[in-house]
Amino acid sequence: MTAATTPANSAAWLGPKHARLAVGPAPYTRPGPDEIVMRNHAVAINPLDWILQEVGTVIYPWIRYPFVVGSDVAGQVVEVGAAVTRFAVGDRVVAQATGSDKDENSSAAGAFQLYSVVRERLASPIPDDLSFAQASVLPLALSTAACGLFQKNQLALDHPTADPVPSGSTLLVWGGSTSVGANAIQLAVAAGYEVITTASPRNFDYVTRLGASRVIDYGSPTAVADLIAAFDGKSLAGAIAVGTGSSEQCAAVVAACEGNRFIAMASTPASFDSVGDGRGRALRLARVMLRIGSSTAVLILKTRLRGIRTSSIWGSSLKNDEVSTLIYEKFLPAALTDGRFVAAPEALVVGHGLESVQLALDTQRGGVSARKVVVTL
Ligand SMILES: NC(=O)c1ccc[n+]([C@@H]2O[C@H](COP(=O)([O-])OP(=O)(O)OC[C@H]3O[C@@H](n4cnc5c(N)ncnc54)[C@H](OP(=O)(O)O)[C@@H]3O)[C@@H](O)[C@H]2O)c1
Repeated sequence: MTAATTPANSAAWLGPKHARLAVGPAPYTRPGPDEIVMRNHAVAINPLDWILQEVGTVIYPWIRYPFVVGSDVAGQVVEVGAAVTRFAVGDRVVAQATGSDKDENSSAAGAFQLYSVVRERLASPIPDDLSFAQASVLPLALSTAACGLFQKNQLALDHPTADPVPSGSTLLVWGGSTSVGANAIQLAVAAGYEVITTASPRNFDYVTRLGASRVIDYGSPTAVADLIAAFDGKSLAGAIAVGTGSSEQCAAVVAACEGNRFIAMASTPASFDSVGDGRGRALRLARVMLRIGSSTAVLILKTRLRGIRTSSIWGSSLKNDEVSTLIYEKFLPAALTDGRFVAAPEALVVGHGLESVQLALDTQRGGVSARKVVVTL
């Protein structure tokens, strides 16, 4: 690619003080040796995206505005770095963009733009019959589930294969109808584990289709007791806790189980969605931060006293270990092609073009059920 043929990029820029996204020109950045550049045709929204808009300076203090956030991209490769071996220009791919991470801190590697720079090891080819919109639901949710299940400092489960051998143990996936949960169920089943999960009754069929053997309504006052009964006589493979406050409830279940008493925690004990704008914002934010800090400290103490280990998941940390290769190179491409793994949940396309990304953030923040908010580009 020469200067004359460098594509014109534009991005949905995040400004300071939780400003609304503003679409404007962005530089086109060439790939490093292990990177590819993608022309994004669909981007998906994760809770982290609106959380960064709401409280970015508090939780990601390294970010300098204006900045390009976003993790989930699907599109076509337009340029490959010198050391890239798995991709060529024109390939259809899905990838996780990690530009907001402290060790990258680069708008060029954010999702919400036409051209993103992504790491080869966080990208997979996708089959021709999988749309960009549907493929884009995968990256951060898939990576988060994979980190929780397979990283050595997390549940360290057996790896997924085309012919899983039954492990004889059962995983608790709290929040099976979340995007992270949908991936956790499928990955665990592909690794030979039985899965017991939670969801609202409207999503019981959905999580069963994904591979769960038993579903409990997490909104029921008897949810914890029902789960303890469901695990009676089973060997626990561990738990992955997805959904605000889910770790506390998982701890009550895990304490009553035999086996691997370990909880991989995807979510915080309180949500930032109550912070909002207007008078009293600073106080509301302080309350949420205090609640997260104090509830986490209490949880860690309680679980230690009960002999339960816990660990928080960082959904992009696989870029630095073997789990990225396991998922994006060895497992996902063939599993998608064979139909052994589906891109779930269903994409909810709310608009086309970067101007729709703010609406998409607002829609995800407003709450979704077994849907992933997507914008096509
Ligand atoms: N640590 C990380 O790196 C990382 C990365 C990605 C996401 N996360 C966190 O993981 C969580 C899920 O994210 P996501 O993108 O997968 O969410 P999502 O797809 O937007 O989740 C929507 C689903 O959440 C379910 N839900 C709501 N409250 C719940 C609760 N208390 N327990 C269980 N399920 C609940 C709802 O299920 P029903 O409709 O069935 O009621 C709904 O279908 C969020 O807390 C997010 O911040 C963490």
